[in-house]
Amino acid sequence: MALITTKDMFEKALNADYAVGAFNVNNMEIIQGIVEAAEEEQAPLILQVSAGARKYAKPAYLVKLVEAAMEDSGLDIALHLDHGEDFDICKKCVDDGFSSVMIDGSKHPFEENIALTKQVVEYAHDKGVVVEAELGKLAGIEDNINVDARSATFTDPAEAAEFVERTGVDSLAIAIGTSHGAYKFKGDPYLDFERLQEIHRLIPDTPLVLHGASTVLPEFVDLCNQYGGEIPGAKGVPEDMIRTAAKYGVCKVNIDTDLRLAMTAEIRRYLTEHPADFDPRKYLGPARDAIRKMVAHKIRDVLGASGKR
Ligand code: G3H
Ligand code: 13P
Ligand code: ZN
Repeated sequence: MALITTKDMFEKALNADYAVGAFNVNNMEIIQGIVEAAEEEQAPLILQVSAGARKYAKPAYLVKLVEAAMEDSGLDIALHLDHGEDFDICKKCVDDGFSSVMIDGSKHPFEENIALTKQVVEYAHDKGVVVEAELGKLAGIEDNINVDARSATFTDPAEAAEFVERTGVDSLAIAIGTSHGAYKFKGDPYLDFERLQEIHRLIPDTPLVLHGASTVLPEFVDLCNQYGGEIPGAKGVPEDMIRTAAKYGVCKVNIDTDLRLAMTAEIRRYLTEHPADFDPRKYLGPARDAIRKMVAHKIRDVLGASGKR
């Protein structure tokens, strides 16, 4: 079994208004929990690895774990580099056998982002690997004081069309108001759907990617807090906003924070209730199961991807 690219899965999703979950992985239990859920739901699946995850787990382990997950589940999986910051890390992942890479040139000026993205696209396409790029900045809630300043960092629709045309990139991550982590909004959640619709109108065949898309499920925030965590005021993207985004060209929805919360909440609970236990399987098992249930809920009730493999 070989890793697959995101090409076919995005084409299907784009034409049927659902999205594929892209889940960040760092170790075996996280991979197993996600893959079990995708298998239960018979859903398309992207597993993604950040530079931090690559350093933590080592690329060889991650690639082999994902290959083992495909063999065990019979599912086709895309293995993607998340937020590659330069050509070098993208090249390494292509050479390591990843089927998809992200070159995140969003911090660079427009022309530099284009040049860097083109360089990665040329290298990756030559080896049959697909490329995601990013245009616009995912600001945190504390980064800008007012709404106007924040939306100035959002993706410009005309630039998005030019960017895709000139780079030949396969998918594009856009900024419409989400941000990474557990604190996404100070007040009411707001995403710029008019902007998203305009981007989708100008580049209807380009799969769009929503980063910072965790919904920050209250049950896990509450559990973390109940068992000694300190994460008051955490707020994610409401589930219905993810569903709306999937109607306007968003084919890939990135989720990491929800995995971290589910895993940590269950480990906290287990260790608090069983203070004398020190067998890691005793607390990592329930944590893996919490991930499985949470991911199945996302695939089924939020992304609408059940049965779409
Ligand atoms: O977008 C960032 C992901 O949540 C990965 O985070 O760099 O800490 O692995 P990380
Ligand atoms: P969250 O922090 O909302 O899970 O976003 C993850 C992400 O965008 C990974 O690239
Ligand atoms: Zn991201």
